[in-house]
Amino acid sequence: MRWWDIESVMAIEEPIFGATAWSAGQFWGELARANRVYVVIDDDEGVAAYAGVLIRPPTGDIQTIAVAPRARRRGMAAAMLDHLLAMAESAGCREVLLEVRADSDDAIALYQSHGFEVIARRSGYYGPGLDALIMRHGGSSREK
Ligand SMILES: CC(C)(COP(=O)(O)OP(=O)(O)OC[C@H]1O[C@@H](n2cnc3c(N)ncnc32)[C@H](O)[C@@H]1OP(=O)(O)O)[C@@H](O)C(=O)NCCC(=O)NCCS
Repeated sequence: MRWWDIESVMAIEEPIFGATAWSAGQFWGELARANRVYVVIDDDEGVAAYAGVLIRPPTGDIQTIAVAPRARRRGMAAAMLDHLLAMAESAGCREVLLEVRADSDDAIALYQSHGFEVIARRSGYYGPGLDALIMRHGGSSREK
């Protein structure tokens, strides 16, 4: 992801995440900081998918992942997640964590299909009645 992608990213981000959407300024800030890898996938209409990871060995944190509704179930999220996990691992991360809304069935299925496991639940994390699941890939159950 480069700064010129941010406007197209926001056109996907806002309808998907609504009140909890990141601002354009937050994406600018993420791109400006060290230890982050952000990627996009383009289709014929422009940016179709994006994702980012914060790499702080021995831990990585998936910051965001989203695919435009028009481009879902074509493997874009899986490809981005594979790439970010490989980047984190090659930088020395032994585990990768993420937070996901407990009612995001699609995202949870994606993460489980990539070997993430639920390690904690945070009640009301996203607001009243909106719990977060903390999921982990790697770590103590997968020592090398
Ligand atoms: C979750 C999301 C990123 C998946 O993107 P995608 O490109 O459609 O996912 P993929 O095509 O790469 O799917 C990979 C795997 O994830 C799982 N999966 C993805 N979408 C699913 C769905 N709707 N139902 C069940 N499983 C699903 C499946 O295991 C799938 O593999 P398969 O297609 O071989 O069955 C997308 O639905 C999205 O942007 N959702 C809204 C934003 C969001 O919830 N982001 C995560 C919050 S942090």
